[in-house]
Amino acid sequence: MEFNEVIGKRQTIRDFENKAIPASVVEHAIENAFKAPTYNHLREWDFILISSLEAKLKLIESEHLEKPIDINELEKLFRNEETIMKEMYLDAIPKQKKMILDAPQVIVVVYKPKTSIEKALRIYDLNCLASVWTCIENFLLSLAEHDIFGVTFIPQNTASLKEKFGIPPQLEIAAVIPIGYRVQDAKKLKQKAINIVDRIHTDKW
Ligand SMILES: Cc1cc2nc3c(=O)[nH]c(=O)nc-3n(C[C@H](O)[C@H](O)[C@H](O)COP(=O)(O)O)c2cc1C
Repeated sequence: MEFNEVIGKRQTIRDFENKAIPASVVEHAIENAFKAPTYNHLREWDFILISSLEAKLKLIESEHLEKPIDINELEKLFRNEETIMKEMYLDAIPKQKKMILDAPQVIVVVYKPKTSIEKALRIYDLNCLASVWTCIENFLLSLAEHDIFGVTFIPQNTASLKEKFGIPPQLEIAAVIPIGYRVQDAKKLKQKAINIVDRIHTDKW
């Protein structure tokens, strides 16, 4: 597939079809993920592939996603936000549990931090996080080539998740990514229109 076509296709999907993903496609996407740039040349990344209901429930429990969401409360919370952002959150928040349950596979992306997050003082200390996100984008683009999409869920209770999944204490979780084929009527959210010319500055701002 054309490079531009893949870039154009990549999108966040939270509504998944009940259809298995070929293991070879996921393995190839991980191989492509490892072609991303790394700050220290070590590519200290690992991927946990989750498909069992038991493991998904561990994720849901750890992130306290069991409780139903009150949409009126959400509306209130985001009432002063930009419409485009509000629409995204109102669609996304109620789907956090379902997207994990429905996705045929959920990928936990693990990386080795340079400095613990609590001690990070400079942008430089976050190079490890910047690197793992370039790796995540390669992964998502590689899947998009096969019409498989994902949603990058950022866990809040990483200590509990690490314990439940046996992740070594010196490593961290960058994202939990439910992946799968999109249902036919999957919600397509409006993107903020960007005038590229306004965002390009020459020699100075
Ligand atoms: C750092 C980061 C954190 C995100 N966290 C979440 C999340 O916790 N849950 C979720 O449903 N989507 C999450 N998203 C997905 C964004 O909502 C999505 O990328 C955005 O709406 C743009 O849509 P697009 O990916 O289709 O271009 C996250 C994306 C990024 C880059």
